[in-house]
Formats: sequence, C-alpha cells, structure tokens
Amino acid sequence: FPIHEPKEFNWSFNGPFGTYDKAQLQRGLQVYKEVCAACHSMHMVAFRTLEDLGYSEAQVKAFAAEYTIHDGPNDDGDMFDRPGKPSDYFPSPFPNVQAAAAANGGAAPPDMSLLAKARGLERGFPQFVFDIFTQYAAGGPDYIHALLTGYNQEPPAGMVIPEGTHYNPYFNAGVSLKMPPPLSDGQVTYSDGSPETVEQYSEDVSAFLMWAAEPHLEERKKTGFRVVIFLLLFAGLVYATKRKVWAGVA
Ligand code: HEM
Repeated sequence: FPIHEPKEFNWSFNGPFGTYDKAQLQRGLQVYKEVCAACHSMHMVAFRTLEDLGYSEAQVKAFAAEYTIHDGPNDDGDMFDRPGKPSDYFPSPFPNVQAAAAANGGAAPPDMSLLAKARGLERGFPQFVFDIFTQYAAGGPDYIHALLTGYNQEPPAGMVIPEGTHYNPYFNAGVSLKMPPPLSDGQVTYSDGSPETVEQYSEDVSAFLMWAAEPHLEERKKTGFRVVIFLLLFAGLVYATKRKVWAGVA
C-alpha cells in the first residue's frame, strides 16, 4: 500500500549478534520525551526499565520525578497528582483515545509501546511469520525512520492530498497522514555532540522505540545462538550413537 517501501537501515541491533547502542537509546529517549510525547503515549513502558539504557537508579528516580502522575483514589475517594516514581509508567498526553483523536483532526496518535513491532500485523500477516523470517517485524524501526524522514517530498502531479493531512510516500495506510512533520533540524539539543538533524533524531528515536517494544532483544539473540550450538552438538551426538548402535547390523 505505501508508495515506497522503507529502506533497510543498518541498525546496531541487526543480525544474530546485534546489540543496542546505549548512547543512541538515550538520545532517542530524549527525542521521545521532548517531541513525540506531546501526542503519543507509551503506557506499557515503566520508568524503572530505563536502567537498561545505562542510567543509574538515582538518575531514573530523578527522571521519573519530573513527571506528574494522576493517581488515586485516596482514602477520601479523591484523585490527586503526585511526582512520578520509578515504578510508574510513562503518563499519556490525552485521557483517552477519543480525546487524542479529537486533538489530532480525527486520527489518534498510536501508542508507542509496541509501535516498532506492529507493522506485520497491519499488513495482514501473523506476527510470528515476521519474527521467523526477519530480525524484527516487517518495517519496524525501518518504517518509523522512513516515515520521519519522508515528509520533504512532493506528491506526484495530479494527486489530491486531503485537507488536514500531510503527504508521505512511506505511510503504511495511504499516501498522507494526519501527523504533521514532527522533527526539524536543531529541535532537540544533544549533550554528546551528535548531529542535531532530522536524520539523526529519526535514527535515534526509531532505535529507542525498538528497545521499548523489545527490551529483551539482546538476551533473546544470545539464547538463540546457544540453542543453535546445542542442537548442532546434540545432532552430532545422536548421529554418532546411531552409528554405534547399528554398527553390527548388516
Ligand atoms: C502517527 C511516529 C510525533 C501525531 C504516527 C506514526 C508513527 C509516528 C510511526 C504512524 C503509525 C502508522 O503507521 O499507523 C512519531 C514519532 C514522533 C511523532 C517517532 C516524534 C519524533 C508526533 C507529534 C504529533 C503526532 C508531535 C502531534 C502533533 C500523530 C498522529 C498520527 C501519528 C495524529 C496518526 C496519523 C494518521 O493515522 O493519519 N506517528 N510521531 N506525532 N502521529 Fe506521530
């Protein structure tokens, strides 16, 4: 359905030995926090898991405390606001999906917790087919990266772009979407000297969203490798046993 398929990007977490680049995940978190979180929720990710990105317990505590969490009811039956704790989840920018859609021209910005994994399902294939044949669900971070960097293109001559939508040839469900281009050069200030460009922001936030959707990717890959080695050794052993057991049979 999209006009262009996303280009495959050379992520640090690709391949059977891929790992996350923690500095990149930290930058991606910053982009999520400062840009995407204005519209997109990420309600399945708890602050405490940010220790995976290389932050200390104290840093995570301070990060969580910057957020206000709507909690309750208390003993009097009232709802109340309090500072965030590491055990809290990222608060959502809108109280519910209807409010999210109303604020965005009728299209609710999807929750980001599993966004990097959701592509396969939308294309009508069962998720496990993609899990077996690709390193991550079809599209995944490649799709997010392509979409974020794909706005600056002219629609083909004669194509009518519905009002209130933005042309993007990478969008999976049509040729234009209700999300305005969210990133511009210089928008987020990095402290590690990385380029402050739409390209870099897009790579970083896509990698971060991959981590959010698959925090255990590294362990999974390591376990998979051990299982393959074990199966090879075991197959050799079974073969040797078979030869021995049947050695005397003509
Ligand atoms: C949809 C990512 C910031 C509003 C999407 C989609 C992605 C995405 C990948 C497409 C999902 C799909 O294919 O169905 C991001 C990222 C952001 C960001 C990584 C930060 C860098 C924003 C902001 C807003 C916004 C700031 C609000 C001003 C929307 C809306 C949709 C959407 C309304 C639904 C579009 C439609 O279905 O027509 N976003 N987004 N996003 N986003 Fe964002």
